[in-house]
Amino acid sequence: MTTNNFKENLKQYTLRFNQEIEKYFSFPKGEEKRVSQAMHYSLSCGGKRLRPFLVYSTAKLFGIDFTNSINTAISLEMLHTYSLIHDDLPAMDNDDFRRGFPTCHKKFDEATAIIAGDGLLTYAFEILSSPKTSSDSAVRCRLISLLAQAAGAFNGMVAGQMLDLIAEQYTPQTPNAKNIINHIEEMKTGRLLRYAVEAGAILGNAPADLFEKLSKYSRKIGIAFQITDDILDVEGNEELVGKTLRKDNNQNKLTFINLYGLEKSKQMAQELISQAIESLSPFDNSADDLRQLAQYIITRNH
Ligand code: IPE
Ligand code: IPE
Ligand code: MG
Ligand code: MG
Ligand code: MG
Repeated sequence: MTTNNFKENLKQYTLRFNQEIEKYFSFPKGEEKRVSQAMHYSLSCGGKRLRPFLVYSTAKLFGIDFTNSINTAISLEMLHTYSLIHDDLPAMDNDDFRRGFPTCHKKFDEATAIIAGDGLLTYAFEILSSPKTSSDSAVRCRLISLLAQAAGAFNGMVAGQMLDLIAEQYTPQTPNAKNIINHIEEMKTGRLLRYAVEAGAILGNAPADLFEKLSKYSRKIGIAFQITDDILDVEGNEELVGKTLRKDNNQNKLTFINLYGLEKSKQMAQELISQAIESLSPFDNSADDLRQLAQYIITRNH
């Protein structure tokens, strides 16, 4: 029997995290406040906050608390939110709903949504560079460098988004389709989830062997997370998920589902999660939130 209550811990964390957002926004008086309002709108309306919670839960293994991990957590959520705003734009996935509310370009307008994304991306690095992130400037520098790589155009989220769009021209019969889909999932979604865990470990000055175990955990959950996102697109409930579903097929997205089918995709996600949990074996029950979060990633309904 498990005594750890992950869902309650995530709920309490989310409440506190959402209150904290307000401290990061002071709106200018001029008309330019429209962009910070759009940034605030997309950041504060909904979201499971799994990436911040991963930062926090990993850092906590090494004695770092909420206050000492909040800058790292919130900067990542800002960067993630920028990726969603841009992902939803008409030129990309063309979505009207996100996190249960109108997407940024629907609530404001397309140009505002583009610069709100730019604003969140830039602000994330401003926050990360502040001494409040860590009193150790070497730690801050490592975080900044790793986030830039994880989000970036070479092997990071931006590269994954490019390949995701290019792959709309592919079919499951395209040579190498299985490698391509792995690569897409790893980059467009896996890298930021991996960063969440690695950033928590960096904040906590984790020794190299434990860092490696946590990194392995994060790589496994990253892929499983996107497989589940693709499964939810097929099987999910729109009200619960908070975004328009049954779109991947219409937009000819290359996904695990159209390559392997639903059942095999679910098995693959389960296998990744088992491997992720296995790699936490050096940790005692202080890592139970990470274990339960891994399980939640594939059982979630939103
Ligand atoms: C959605 O991420 C986009 C993907 C990378 C699949 P989340 O499912 O974590 O979205 P929010 O943050 O909870 O809205
Ligand atoms: C998006 O993947 C991943 C990002 C980097 C934003 P999807 O396009 O499948 O995400 P949703 O389904 O719109 O949230
Ligand atoms: Mg997309
Ligand atoms: Mg999308
Ligand atoms: Mg999706």
